[in-house]
Amino acid sequence: MNSTQPAGQRWSAERYVRNARFVSDLGAPLLALLAPRPGESILDLGCGDGVLSQQIEEMGAKVIAVDAAPDMVAAARARGLDARLMDGQALTFDADFDALFSNAALHWMRRPDAVIVGMRRALKPGGRLVAEFGGGDNVATVKAALIDGLDRRGIDGESFAPWYFPDDVEYRGRLEAQGFIVDDIALIDRPTPLPGPLDDWLDTFCESFLFALPESDHAPFKAEVVEAVRPQLCDDQGCWSVDYVRLRVVAHLPAKKLATK
Ligand code: BEZ
Repeated sequence: MNSTQPAGQRWSAERYVRNARFVSDLGAPLLALLAPRPGESILDLGCGDGVLSQQIEEMGAKVIAVDAAPDMVAAARARGLDARLMDGQALTFDADFDALFSNAALHWMRRPDAVIVGMRRALKPGGRLVAEFGGGDNVATVKAALIDGLDRRGIDGESFAPWYFPDDVEYRGRLEAQGFIVDDIALIDRPTPLPGPLDDWLDTFCESFLFALPESDHAPFKAEVVEAVRPQLCDDQGCWSVDYVRLRVVAHLPAKKLATK
């Protein structure tokens, strides 16, 4: 899921279903933290193909789902959702929502303060934020191999990394600076088994790195990355697991101040 479009990264709903359904499956505990109530209005930021937005609606809330990828918005609309094409770094809502939910999307947005300002503005006074995304050393093994592979070709690999992976201290500071009260924020190690080969994961999520290279170099570059990380990430049965680290956030805005005489 994403809410913005880093250079080279394309989002296809069909490819996402094939290679990344686990992302929304693993979002289920976050839904429990959100605990949507019937009649609430909820914004799903970076909705992807809308699987989790739909589950929130089934719990009786009214959801607006936004994503920056047209193909994902189309897939979410096909579920009957009110899905809108919008950059999460330029949200246009104003005190419209009781809660804001975001799963596996905020790490694609490289301007966190712009996101947080928009989230604060989108929420009603007292509104809550429940979000999870990549933090700290998320996918560090693969990321290092991708950067290393580009560096060895004389390209600044780090400059092609499309992700923002803050730690809890940094993100708490950013939220508090914009007026959020942080109830809970923590980094969680979550090594994540992949449904298929690492190659598919690289195709789905790491196109920004491939963008640095001519098409003819993509296959050898990916093969090199796969071999570099195989000892750490592939077990004896050939099953791949990536070293995901999540930053889980629960926060809220102060309720409106009572007028004093
Ligand atoms: C993540 O969900 O944390 C993630 C997925 C793909 C690439 C990088 C991070």
